[in-house]
Amino acid sequence: MTWRVIVVYCCVLFLGACAADPPRAGFDALDFELADVGSGEKLFNQSNDEAPACAACHSVTGEDSGVGNSLAGIGDIAGQRVSGQSAEQYLYWSIVRPARHLVPGYANLMYADYDQRLETADIADLIVYMLTLQ
Ligand code: HEC
Repeated sequence: MTWRVIVVYCCVLFLGACAADPPRAGFDALDFELADVGSGEKLFNQSNDEAPACAACHSVTGEDSGVGNSLAGIGDIAGQRVSGQSAEQYLYWSIVRPARHLVPGYANLMYADYDQRLETADIADLIVYMLTLQ
């Protein structure tokens, strides 16, 4: 009997760990119809709620800042980065869980708390803005 309790307890712990820390706003919560490219560009260039500006580490021209890669052309390649992810999904995960997929040749140095700092609408604005970078 006791071992059954232990097994069940371990399963609960294991499932709990798997479900831990889901993104605050799921991808399906994003409303791209209402998203605004201009607001996304503004957000990209300014720090928000103590989070650093994206532009602190990413240029949108071909130049590499040395920390993050240039996002010039990301609108074209985002959909080919991770198999099974659309461009929108890839950009979403890049913001909320940057360590999940690392750009080859770059370290895991992206600010990790945008999930907590950005509103759902801000994330959608940033995504539609990045899709214009071609
Ligand atoms: C402290 C530096 C830093 C900041 C600030 C930062 N990033 Fe990054 N970002 C990185 C680094 C380093 C990488 C490459 C490693 C990786 O993939 O996480 C990266 C990767 C990315 C990628 C994947 C690019 C590709 O070519 O596939 C996207 C998209 C991205 N960041 C968007 C953003 C956005 C949007 C913001 C602002 C909300 C932001 N980043 C803020 C450092 C940063």
